[in-house]
Amino acid sequence: MEAMEQVREWVGMAGRITVLTGAGMSAESGVPTFRGPGGLWRTFRPEDLATPEAFGRDPKLVWEWYNWRRGLIAAAQPHLGHLALAEWEQLGARVTVVTQNVDGLHQRAGSTHVIELHGSIWKLRCVACRYQRMDYTEELTPLPPVCPDCGGLLRPGVVWFGENLPPMAWEASMEAVEESDLLLVIGTTGTVYPAAQLAPLGRQAGARVVEINPVPSGLDAFDAVLEGPCGEILPQLLPASGAAN
Ligand code: OAD
Repeated sequence: MEAMEQVREWVGMAGRITVLTGAGMSAESGVPTFRGPGGLWRTFRPEDLATPEAFGRDPKLVWEWYNWRRGLIAAAQPHLGHLALAEWEQLGARVTVVTQNVDGLHQRAGSTHVIELHGSIWKLRCVACRYQRMDYTEELTPLPPVCPDCGGLLRPGVVWFGENLPPMAWEASMEAVEESDLLLVIGTTGTVYPAAQLAPLGRQAGARVVEINPVPSGLDAFDAVLEGPCGEILPQLLPASGAAN
C-alpha cells in the first residue's frame, strides 16, 4: 500500500492522535527554521542569543533579536497545514498538538489542545521572581521591560539552551503520546532533547509513528514517512467530514 493511503487509513482508525511539530511546521508561513538552509543557527550562534548567560551578559542584544523574531512571526499567517490540524479537531478527532515552536501559529489556526514544550515568544517573564504575562505587542520597547512586582528584567518566556522544559508541559506531552494510537512527527530534525524522545516513546507505547518532512530525518523511529511539505500533506490526510472519531 502506498504510504499516503496507509497513513490515511491509520488516521481514520485512530481514537487519539498526537502531533509533534518543529520549526518546519512554520516554514511555509515564512518563519525561518533553525538548522536547514536559511536556518537561524546558520547565521546566529545560540550561545550568544538563546541562553540565560547570554541574557545576563547582554540583555539588550538578546531582547532585540527576540523583537526581530516577534515581528517576523506577527507578520506570518497559519498555512493550510496548521488549518488542517485545527479542522481535524472541529470534525471531532481527539488531536493534541505538542509543539517545539514558540510562535503560537497552531493556536491562531484554531487548535485548542496545544502544549508548548519550548514556551512562547509572546510570554514575558521575570528573571528574578514568578511574575509573567502574555504580551502580543509586536513592537516591544528597545530594552527589556522591568518587572512591575520586583524591578527585575523581563525576558522572553521561551526555553533556552541549558534550561529545563516546563515540567507540566513535558508530563502532559508524554501522557498524550503514550495514550495515542497515532503520532505524527512534523518538521523537526529530532536533534533537540528531550522533545526528540517522544517519537521513540510513542513507538514503545504502541502508537503508529509517522514522519512528515521534505527532508526526512533518517531516524528509524517511524512506521511510515511522508516526504514533502506539511502544508501540502496535512490537508490530504484530513478525514472526510463526519468520518473522524
Ligand atoms: P530544525 O530547524 O532543526 O529542523 C527543521 C525541520 O523542518 C527540518 O527537518 C526540515 O527538513 C523540516 N522542514 C522544512 N520545511 C518543512 C515543511 N514545509 N514541512 C515540513 N517540514 C519541513 O527545527 P526543530 O527540529 O524544530 O529550540 O528544532 C528544535 C529546536 O532547536 C527548536 O525548538 C529550538 C532550536 O534550537 C529552542 O529554542 C529551545
